[in-house]
Amino acid sequence: VKPVIVVAESAFSDHEALQAHFADLAELRFCDVSTPEAVAGATADASGIVVALHPLRRPYIEAFGPGVKVIGRAGVGLDSIDLEAAESLGVAVVNEPAYGASEVASHGVAMMLSLQRNLPVADRYVRAGWSGKLTLGQVKPVDELTVGLVGCGRIGSAAAGMLHGLVERVVAYDPVAVTLPSGVDRADSLEELLAQSDVVSLHLPLTEETRGVINAERLASMRPGALLINVSRGPLIDEPALADALRSGHIGGAGLDVFTTEPLPADSPLLGAPNTILSPHIAAYSERSAWRLASWTIEDTIAWIVSREVRNGNLVVAGSR
Ligand SMILES: NC(=O)c1ccc[n+]([C@@H]2O[C@H](COP(=O)([O-])OP(=O)(O)OC[C@H]3O[C@@H](n4cnc5c(N)ncnc54)[C@H](O)[C@@H]3O)[C@@H](O)[C@H]2O)c1
Repeated sequence: VKPVIVVAESAFSDHEALQAHFADLAELRFCDVSTPEAVAGATADASGIVVALHPLRRPYIEAFGPGVKVIGRAGVGLDSIDLEAAESLGVAVVNEPAYGASEVASHGVAMMLSLQRNLPVADRYVRAGWSGKLTLGQVKPVDELTVGLVGCGRIGSAAAGMLHGLVERVVAYDPVAVTLPSGVDRADSLEELLAQSDVVSLHLPLTEETRGVINAERLASMRPGALLINVSRGPLIDEPALADALRSGHIGGAGLDVFTTEPLPADSPLLGAPNTILSPHIAAYSERSAWRLASWTIEDTIAWIVSREVRNGNLVVAGSR
């Protein structure tokens, strides 16, 4: 008998392709999971449930049918799932931290190259009639840049691989990583990294210690004209302080995919700051990563039900059901 997996209907777009892909292994049912009542009805005879950003708080988990052994979280962040409730009710939780590392890294590199090569300024100039004074300021060649990676795990390492051969030097500050990719110099402190880097790119997690890590004082300690890239989490940066540093010109530009409040509020000081490229938390997206995220999460959900193993992602809570 094939296990029934309930998949939040809004989580993925390729319903038919996914059903066909897993036809031999499981019955996928795309369902509304927006209320505990809907979850109770959908999961009555199910063995697992897969969600993306849809929150699963305690009442939702308590509403699971008795056969539900595992929650597959299609994505990285776990703040949307009540892990304590899952644990106390014996439900396992798996997530997929690696599905988009290459995409996130390349988004950050695209932002740094675009800012360094003045593409937003150049694009506006051409569209405005290709006349008048074009101010490019000091343009350091890309192959003379030092790029500083704050955090060198999956995404930071992927970025280092892409930057190798493109820029002069890659330096990383990571207090936890024991080894760094070859060709990457280690900075012993964040201060050391900030003082050396023409571009600073953030690839560390948001925790209580890292919230606001890029504050006014650290921005002031960066090289004049340096670029700041954030494809990690918005609250790592003091956004009003960054807007001030961009306006003063001390920070030469910023590429931001993530913000303290998303969607970015209309009165955010970042919207009026010069030399910024802003994107709406899309760094992880590509055709490949979207399919990978869906198929990896469903595969791990089935693998846990059938053989108590996880092949692609992490087991975050080991269930007892
Ligand atoms: N924009 C997006 O769509 C998107 C998608 C996926 C992940 N992310 C973000 O990217 C972050 C990094 O992801 P990852 O897969 O590389 O995670 P990872 O856990 O593989 O790497 C994070 C690294 O940061 C290091 N670190 C921890 N505290 C640090 C500190 N105070 N200073 C410097 N380094 C520190 C860790 O030692 C680790 O090596 C995630 O936490 C997430 O917030 C964003």
